Amino acid sequence: METTQLSRGQFLKQLGLSSAALMSFYCLGTTMTACTSKSDDPTPTGTTPSTTTPSGNGSTDTGITGTTKGSSIDFTIDLTNTNFKKLKTDGEYTYVEDIIIANAKGVYVALSKICTHQGSTIDYRSGTADFKCPNHGSEFKTDGTVQKDPAAKALKAYKVEVLNNGNSIKITE
Ligand code: FES
Repeated sequence: METTQLSRGQFLKQLGLSSAALMSFYCLGTTMTACTSKSDDPTPTGTTPSTTTPSGNGSTDTGITGTTKGSSIDFTIDLTNTNFKKLKTDGEYTYVEDIIIANAKGVYVALSKICTHQGSTIDYRSGTADFKCPNHGSEFKTDGTVQKDPAAKALKAYKVEVLNNGNSIKITE
């Protein structure tokens, strides 16, 4: 004798129930999450949750406000913020996007960090108060001009204004 095992759905279909009735029946016997449609998924697709970017615009807890990239550089750094308070010390430096900012013997300097030779990131040298590319050894003065090749073109220099009794600096094109 042949035995046939019916699934729950097949069994109910044989009882003559419609698919809608089947779904209702199924939902009664299971948790509600099994009955939610895909469109009820709480995770939206195509949208990105808002996040705070360390160097984004308008955020105060990062120590930076303003525009840090693009063609209209104009931002302020809070030197009391833990991210930047080291800059008050002679010889310290940091990077914000494509800009290197250094305290060169008490004077704040902001230059493009991208070596004009082949694009490596330059470093500040506190001993000589200048900038050096670790890749092929190009050196740059604090005004961005080349002091040692192979780089032939000056680094872009930004204006730096000290504000708020020395507690912030504003960097502009
Ligand atoms: S990339 Fe800087 S010296 Fe070559």
